[in-house]
Amino acid sequence: MQHFLPNGQSLEIRNAKPEDATAMLSYFRQLTKETGFLLFTLREAAELSVESEKDYILSFLDDKKDLLLVAMAEGKLVGSITIKQPGLWKQAHLGQLGIGILHSYWNMGIGRRLITAGIRWAEQHKDMEIIHLSVFSNNERAIQLYRNFGFAEYGRMPQGVRHQDGSYGDTILMSKRIKNL
Ligand SMILES: CC(C)(COP(=O)(O)OP(=O)(O)OC[C@H]1O[C@@H](n2cnc3c(N)ncnc32)[C@H](O)[C@@H]1OP(=O)(O)O)[C@@H](O)C(=O)NCCC(=O)NCCS
Repeated sequence: MQHFLPNGQSLEIRNAKPEDATAMLSYFRQLTKETGFLLFTLREAAELSVESEKDYILSFLDDKKDLLLVAMAEGKLVGSITIKQPGLWKQAHLGQLGIGILHSYWNMGIGRRLITAGIRWAEQHKDMEIIHLSVFSNNERAIQLYRNFGFAEYGRMPQGVRHQDGSYGDTILMSKRIKNL
C-alpha cells in the first residue's frame, strides 16, 4: 500500500521479496546497532548473510501461515514486521509479532501502519485469533504503540532479558484478540 510520510517521502508497505535480501541485511544490521530493544546482538546480526536473509524471506513466501512485510521509504527498506504462527496445532490460533524501524524514521507513523497492515492480514488468516508479543519493560515507545492498538499486558517475566553490560531487565507480555473462530 502507498502512503506519504510527514517529511513528504513516499512510503510503500509490501511483502518482502527475495531480491530484498541485501537491503534486508543492511537494514537489520543497522537496526541492531541503533537500538538495544531487539533480542539480536550486533555479533549475532554480523553472522547473518545475504544468503541466510534470502532463505529467511523465502520461508515466508513458501508458507502462507507467516507474514513478513517491509516498509520502503522512497525505495529504501526502513522497517519491517513479522507475525509468525507456531508449528503446533494447539497453538495455531496464535501469532507472534516482531517489528523494527530505523531510528531516523521513528515517530512518523510507520510502526502504526505496519501494525495496521499486520492486523488486517491476521484478520484474514484461517487460524489466527490472537496476536501476542514480548517487549522490554523500558521500551515505552513500543509499549505505547501496542496499547494504541488495544494490546493488553497479560504478564511480566522478571529478568526476561540479559543486557550486554550484564544487567537484567523485565519483559512485558502483551496480546490482542483479533477475531473469534
Ligand atoms: C517501537 C517502534 C517500532 C515504533 O515505531 P514508530 O514508527 O516510531 O511508531 P509510530 O510513529 O507509528 O508511533 C509511535 C507511537 O509511540 C508513541 N511515542 C512516541 N514517543 C514516545 C515516548 N518517548 N514514550 C512513549 N510513547 C512514545 C507515540 O504515542 C506514537 O503513537 P501516536 O501515533 O499515538 O502518536 C520503533 O521505535 C522501533 O523500531 N524501535 C526499535 C525496535 C523495537 O523496539 N521494536 C519493538 C520490539 S518489541
